[in-house]
Amino acid sequence: MRIVFLGPPGAGKGTQAETISREKKLPHISSGNLLREAVETDTETGRKAREYIEKGLLVPDQIVVDIIKDRIVKDDCKDGFILDGFPRTVSQAKVLDEMLKQLGNKLDLVFYFSVSEESVILRLSGRRICSSCGANYHIKFVPSSKDGICDKCGGKLYQRADDKLETVSERLRVYHDQTEDLVEYYKKNGILKEIIADANIKVITKNIFDAIKCTQKNRPLIGYGVV
Ligand code: AP5
Repeated sequence: MRIVFLGPPGAGKGTQAETISREKKLPHISSGNLLREAVETDTETGRKAREYIEKGLLVPDQIVVDIIKDRIVKDDCKDGFILDGFPRTVSQAKVLDEMLKQLGNKLDLVFYFSVSEESVILRLSGRRICSSCGANYHIKFVPSSKDGICDKCGGKLYQRADDKLETVSERLRVYHDQTEDLVEYYKKNGILKEIIADANIKVITKNIFDAIKCTQKNRPLIGYGVV
């Protein structure tokens, strides 16, 4: 299955993508992670992307599109993938449609994580990432057993630079300005499922699994949490 996770910053896309990717054996492709890796390894792409990420702005389409193009043609993507954070503009969506068409494929599902702005701010201000393995925590909702230390590898936890309140406000503004139109775009394509993301992590996971199952069996989805 070829799935997109769409939604505002901090909606929980990465958290859900980790679980669904593991269970469904689909690679989790996060445009944000790919860009941050490029920044950390100081590649040419990383140097170009850094200032946009730090300001909470979208990295220019051509840079992101090239990264995604290179990734989705890899062998592990032949049976599908979960795209998290890409596309983020209607023009990126159109490029993705074209890329998949050339590969003889198409998107099966787009999950739109709808969440309140209060939740986004609470989630992003408390998010902590492991500097060593990249595991994702939250000081209140997904705490590590030892303060500031990763349970999985003992690495140090840090706060993403773009999770500071001023940058979060900018990221939200950019989301409303440039990404929200994708909801209509995919609704018109008939592949959009809205996930009520103001809920418990496990409840959201179950709702996503149910929606995937119904889509695979071509059955209508009747239940709470998915619209
Ligand atoms: P990116 O890394 O994609 O950031 P984002 O989309 O803003 O999303 P986040 O990673 O902030 O949030 P999330 O929804 O994954 O939430 P998470 O699961 O971590 O992009 C960063 C930057 O890169 C962009 O600003 C841009 O500059 C650039 N970029 C990336 N893609 C681009 C593109 N396509 N085009 C151009 N530029 C691009 O959860 C957040 C926290 O909440 C965690 O602590 C988690 O533990 C907790 N949590 C999760 N779910 C719940 C829940 N249900 N209840 C309580 N807590 C929860």
